[in-house]
Amino acid sequence: MKEMTLKSTIQVAQLDELSAQEQELIAQAIEATQRSYAPYSHFHVGAALLLENGEVFIGCNQENAAFPAGICGERSAIFAAGAKYPDVPVVTLALTARGTDGELVNEPASPCGTCRQVIIETETRFQRPVRILLYGRKHTYVIDGIKQLMPLSFTEF
Ligand code: THU
Repeated sequence: MKEMTLKSTIQVAQLDELSAQEQELIAQAIEATQRSYAPYSHFHVGAALLLENGEVFIGCNQENAAFPAGICGERSAIFAAGAKYPDVPVVTLALTARGTDGELVNEPASPCGTCRQVIIETETRFQRPVRILLYGRKHTYVIDGIKQLMPLSFTEF
């Protein structure tokens, strides 16, 4: 047997190192945390999705007493965009969260496995990588394509 190492590379940025448009997208994700419905986890996730046509779709987590019936912030934004513009590629996803103390997370919150799988589908669908900005107060992780977060992913059968 031989060992194979899977390598991921991401950038760690301060806000002023990002473009004005990306800073604005992060601001919209932060704002979206205020509208999240999270009475069970008290973890308020906000997402903002920039499409190639310049439109921005907002998402936030929507919880349910029957847990699996809820949905994450990322997927709520991606599915809303797909419902309005099925043919317009997704360019960038900004994501952040407010913890149980009501403050924005210090370290960036990362998409769950199901959301990563949906982002993979988005990339496959539009044949282009989605730039992902994970905002925390300490720094923002800048990720050029979901494959950095999900190597050996399932894309086709
Ligand atoms: N959550 C998201 O919105 N996105 C993720 O990628 C991870 C988790 C939500 C789901 C649930 O409402 C809360 O965060 C706690 O897990």
